Amino acid sequence: MTTILYEPLAARKLERPDRQELDARIAAALARVDRMLPQFGEYFPAPSSESGIYAPIDNVEWTNGFWTGMLWLAWQLTGEERFRSVAERNIQSFATRVERLVNVDHHDLGFLYTLSACAAYRLTGDTLARSSGLEAARLLLKRFDPVANVIQAWGDMKDPKQRGRMIIDCNLNVPLLYWASRETGNKDFAAAADKHLAQAAKLLVRADASTFHTFYVDTKTGKPRHGSTHQGHSDDSSWARGQAWGIYGFALAWRHTSDPAYLDIASKLANHFLNRLPGDGICCWDLIFTDEVGTPRDSSAAAIAACGLLELAQALPLSNEMRETYEAWAAAIVRTLGDNYLAPLEGSNAVLLHAVYHMPNKAGVDEACIWGDYFYLEALMRLRHPWEPYWS
Ligand code: GLY
Repeated sequence: MTTILYEPLAARKLERPDRQELDARIAAALARVDRMLPQFGEYFPAPSSESGIYAPIDNVEWTNGFWTGMLWLAWQLTGEERFRSVAERNIQSFATRVERLVNVDHHDLGFLYTLSACAAYRLTGDTLARSSGLEAARLLLKRFDPVANVIQAWGDMKDPKQRGRMIIDCNLNVPLLYWASRETGNKDFAAAADKHLAQAAKLLVRADASTFHTFYVDTKTGKPRHGSTHQGHSDDSSWARGQAWGIYGFALAWRHTSDPAYLDIASKLANHFLNRLPGDGICCWDLIFTDEVGTPRDSSAAAIAACGLLELAQALPLSNEMRETYEAWAAAIVRTLGDNYLAPLEGSNAVLLHAVYHMPNKAGVDEACIWGDYFYLEALMRLRHPWEPYWS
């Protein structure tokens, strides 16, 4: 296992946040969600901001579920009707989207429907939400290639450039398949998810517990071809958000499969990630960089990793000493995000600043990203309350 190379928390403020601190941080985050409400009733925030401002968009992006997920979290945290009513309005929009097949030709159906429809059904019993979630899961299942044993990430299933291409982000999309299996009794959903995760563990995780962002498998022979990056620095570096998707996704894989190998992988990925953090504990956008200044950070990857570390800590046996370490790291990351990365109430309509969407495309660099806002709120929820994840 990759070991922790330096005293992970010695130089940091280690005290676990108490209820008062967490309540203040939740209130600050919710003030920002409240500020977004009037603008994002009919519309959704764009994937990333421009100069700290999210433009309003229709329900057409892979990211729309994060806003609805934030609304459900806000409703669970406060019981305030204003959050629930906008979230419920969004559910109609997600139902229409899956019915009309609006930009659903990709694997991010999991991100989209787990946090919107499935969360709605879980929390309110809304049957339209349930049927939309199931329809999304059926579309996702169609992306499973039975020779390559992977869910194809992007593009038409016949596109030679995309055939057999899996990506690490998909670890957060497969929970939709496990949910659909449970809801319908159809084991095909879970079987595809199991096979995809097995390939992810085998092909996306390198020997040193760094990760490929994407990997190609031959769809005629089932043989592995090669890894490559899409949003990272290079094919052989670890894109920080990919590593964070891996930490969280493999911890969730254990939740869904009870296979302890996934906990071991999640721990190795976590250690690799933690060993490459700059002094303030917020990762640079790619883990090839570990410098204190000069390289853009990805606060959204930090927020995802915090949730992953908390899921992992909860899953480890009580006797495992890393439980406390991972929890303390998650709390330290959340504290730094709250102290230094929170968007100002004036001049922004985001929650967290200083993320990177897509460095190679120069899109959303040092901006807010809507999934970072979601995962920051989820991390706060996890630290403050016992909470059944929407991903479960
Ligand atoms: N899943 C795409 C991204 O993390 O940017």
